Amino acid sequence: MVELAIHGGPAAAEALEIPEWPTMNEASEQYVQEALDSGHWCRNAGGEFCDRLEAEFAAYHDAKHAVAVCNGTAAIELALLACGVEPGDEVIVPSYSFIASASAVPAVGAVPRFVDTDPRTYNIDVDHLEDVITDRTVGVIGVHFAGYPMDMDRLIPLVESHDLFLIEDAAHAQGSEWNGEKVGTFGEFGTFSFQESKSLPSGEGGIVVTDDDVLAERARILHNIGREQGTTGYRHYRMGRNYRLSEIQAALALGQLEKLDAENRIREENERRLLEELEAIPGIETKPRDERITARGYCLENFRYDPDAFDGLSRDRFIEALNAEGVPVGDGYEMPMYRQPAFFRNEIGRLLPDGTDIPDYRHLHLPGVEELCRTNVSYNHKVLLADAEGVQSIATAIRKIQDNTDTLIE
Ligand SMILES: Cc1ncc(COP(=O)(O)O)c(C=O)c1O
Repeated sequence: MVELAIHGGPAAAEALEIPEWPTMNEASEQYVQEALDSGHWCRNAGGEFCDRLEAEFAAYHDAKHAVAVCNGTAAIELALLACGVEPGDEVIVPSYSFIASASAVPAVGAVPRFVDTDPRTYNIDVDHLEDVITDRTVGVIGVHFAGYPMDMDRLIPLVESHDLFLIEDAAHAQGSEWNGEKVGTFGEFGTFSFQESKSLPSGEGGIVVTDDDVLAERARILHNIGREQGTTGYRHYRMGRNYRLSEIQAALALGQLEKLDAENRIREENERRLLEELEAIPGIETKPRDERITARGYCLENFRYDPDAFDGLSRDRFIEALNAEGVPVGDGYEMPMYRQPAFFRNEIGRLLPDGTDIPDYRHLHLPGVEELCRTNVSYNHKVLLADAEGVQSIATAIRKIQDNTDTLIE
């Protein structure tokens, strides 16, 4: 009999050697050194790297404009401000995401309305979008969760038919494509994060992309404390914020962009082979293959776990056993976003105009996201950068646990 690693047996995924993340490359080292040597560490002091990053990132997306900002949270807030969101407006937000995808809305004085999540894709459930549109709704923030694109063929006509703006939170999706077009370019704005765990990291950082000249100019002014585009000094025309990215982080992000595609192709190939194995394991539900997803970006990856196919073994115990076998996985967000105390009325009420009708999120129930919180298993994108044999051993480890559940269930 094979002994599970959690009981002292040999780990099934011993071959899985996960590389360090983040990693430097020559270009990053060179550009950061140049930024340091230039003596211009703030873009307003005459540096070139924020400009270069914006030009390269926009070109990479075939977008007209990009504005670099200090993080992905600021990117969403900036997009909302540039879209003209006013205090008391409502914006539809995902229920399964990092908090910034929704907290950016009260941060600009507006009300988040949570829409359910499709547990198969982890993205907004488009079937339920119209349920949460009210006469105060002005826009939608959707997240390309884990880099798996939202169904743009369905989402775009729907938001257009209701005259809403769309902000694509692409914090996880650097390099993902829908029908040959980079995500982040379908809505009014695409927003990205360069935080260290992301696949294009600069420690902290972010960027917005848009094809709209007017929105781009507004974003540029607002991110530079209301100064006119390209100016410094003490004339402030709009009530903006300081969301600027530093030159040093821009230099780092510019260098990291040069290796993004090559790394994504390794992740994609490893994931393709892993999926073939995972799809054959009862009780492991992977995301649907969709031919319209023509390239994948990554931040993390997920599958759903069904205890019934593992003799009732709880997800927590499954995760513990898989970790012991050498596969680092976790359970992701433990609650739907609307359950976070940060969204309780007494907390977000402080940010909204007096008398705003705030939904009682504590009593909200959205079945798709609640199912995900019970069943999700996540792993980091760096796992998919391990060598092919190591990645394949993830499936071996899962099968080993499935074959030995009797030793795990008391
Ligand atoms: C989906 C999503 N949106 C936005 C953000 C915010 O990015 P940042 O941490 O750079 O503020 C994150 C960060 O993890 C994220 O996962």
